[in-house]
Order: sequence, then structure tokens, then C-alpha cells
Amino acid sequence: MKNPRSILITGASSGIGEALAKKYSGPGVLLGLTGRNMQRLSDVAKVCEKLGAEVVFETIDVQNRIKMHDFIRRLERKKSIDLVFANAGISNSTASSKLNYEDIEDEIVAVNILGVLNTVRPALELMKLHQNGQIVIISSLAAYSPTPGAAIYGATKVAIKNLGLALRTENREFNIGITVICPGFVDTLMTENLIHPLFIISSKKAANIIYKKIIKNPKIISFPTSTLILLLVSKIIPDRIIFKIISSQLDSDKKTQ
Ligand SMILES: NC(=O)c1ccc[n+]([C@@H]2O[C@H](COP(=O)([O-])OP(=O)(O)OC[C@H]3O[C@@H](n4cnc5c(N)ncnc54)[C@H](OP(=O)(O)O)[C@@H]3O)[C@@H](O)[C@H]2O)c1
Repeated sequence: MKNPRSILITGASSGIGEALAKKYSGPGVLLGLTGRNMQRLSDVAKVCEKLGAEVVFETIDVQNRIKMHDFIRRLERKKSIDLVFANAGISNSTASSKLNYEDIEDEIVAVNILGVLNTVRPALELMKLHQNGQIVIISSLAAYSPTPGAAIYGATKVAIKNLGLALRTENREFNIGITVICPGFVDTLMTENLIHPLFIISSKKAANIIYKKIIKNPKIISFPTSTLILLLVSKIIPDRIIFKIISSQLDSDKKTQ
């Protein structure tokens, strides 16, 4: 989609979502931004407005199906939505549940899978009516290979990667593009406690890559190439060695928390 004019971004209050919101801001653009932290979300909205965009923003938990549906309809009434980023997501380090591992895992599944469904379904419904639009689902390079130490997170990213690829085929006849994004480490709140995240890039750079590449509606965008290559090579290394490397990384992360 070239020059999208009405864009929904979930998880726009920080990180990749924030960088995408700023990147797409400009005169004639309507942005619908969501997140949960009002202070951070309204700060992002102010910057986007200064850059010329009209912004509608609301603190909504993506787990709330009805509120997501209502917000998306509200945005559509202002200007027909042509681009959606299902970006909101959490990992063990950013989950709000801290009580026990079961609550944390349930929250990761609910936000990363149901949250994406609550974004994509109402958007698809509307895009089918006007037979136009693009949906971008933010998965992860973690979807390429099992992630010991972050098993549930990795599983949710596999699920939404497959969801996006299947929906892409199902919705081609309606002229709706669907692209899955698989980033490696990006410097955001999610990675701030990692000690040596490999080939980490800034959220601004990630947004620039996404902005440039989704125009051609590719099936999947994975970056950075260096991490992708490493990941593919790691498939021939025995699992126990990979697990040792990842565990030592996670141990050192815990020590810093
Ligand atoms: N950073 C990486 O290395 C990396 C790599 C691969 C993929 N990703 C994916 O990229 C996406 C963005 O993450 P990020 O790195 O930018 O992390 P981030 O800075 O923590 O941003 C996550 C965003 O999601 C929002 N969010 C979280 N839970 C939510 C909920 N229940 N309801 C509504 N919004 C919610 C947060 O909003 P509030 O804080 O306001 O709640 C925030 O705006 C995620 O899907 C993540 O899995 C990140």
C-alpha cells in the first residue's frame, strides 16, 4: 500500500509501535493509536500531531475484544482504514503479571495471540467491505526456531506468523494484503534488560525497514539479515549447546533485574 491515509497501530505507546507512528505521521494522515499507558501514549500522540497527523488515541487493553472492535469502528467512521499494524505484544520481561509463571504465560498467550485476533478480525471485516487494505502482523525471528527460556513467547510468535500467512491466502480475493514481520532484537522496553542482545537495532531503524518493505506487500519481512543467518545456521548446532548459550544469556539478564 502506497501512501496509506488511515492507519491503526496497536502498542503505539513505546518501542516499535511508537517509531512506526512517528514514521507515518504527516499531513493528511489519520492515526489510530492504542496502548495502555496513558502518559506515554499521549506523549507519542502529541509528537505525531506536531508532525502533521490527525491522531485518535485511546488506552485499550488488546485483550478487550469489544473495546478494540469499537475503537476500530470509530476510526473507520472518520476515514476508511487502509493499513493496520497488529504490534502490541509482551514477553516475560514486560508481562504485567508477576505473581507466578502460570499467570505470566497466560498473559503472554492472551496478549500476543488473542490481542492480535482482536485487532485483525474487525479490521478484516471492514477491509472486505471496501475490498482494499493491508494488515501487518508483528511476529518475531523467535518464530523461526524453538526458543528455550522463552518457550511461550516463541510459541505465540509462531502462532501469529502462521495466522498471518494463512489469512494472506484467504483474503487475497478481497484485495487485502497481509504481511508478517519477524524482527530480531530491537532496542525497546522489551529488550532493555538483556545484556548482549545480538545485532540489536534501534526502533527507528526497525520502523524504517518496515515502512520501506511493506509497500510491495511481501509475505514476510525478516531482519536483521545477520541474526536471520545466525538463526538458520544454528539449526545445525545440537539443541543442548543452543540451550546452554541461551540459558547463560537469560541468567545474566536475571542478575541485572
Ligand atoms: N524488541 C524486540 O527485540 C522485538 C523483537 C521481535 C518482535 N518484537 C515484537 O514487537 C512488538 C512491539 O514490541 P516492542 O519491542 O516495541 O516492545 P515495547 O516497547 O514493550 O512495546 C510494546 C507495546 O505493546 C503495548 N502493549 C503491551 N501489552 C498490551 C496490552 N495488553 N494491550 C495493549 N497494548 C499492550 C505496550 O503498551 P503499554 O506499555 O502502554 O501497555 C507497548 O506500546 C511486540 O509484539 C514484540 O513481541 C519485539
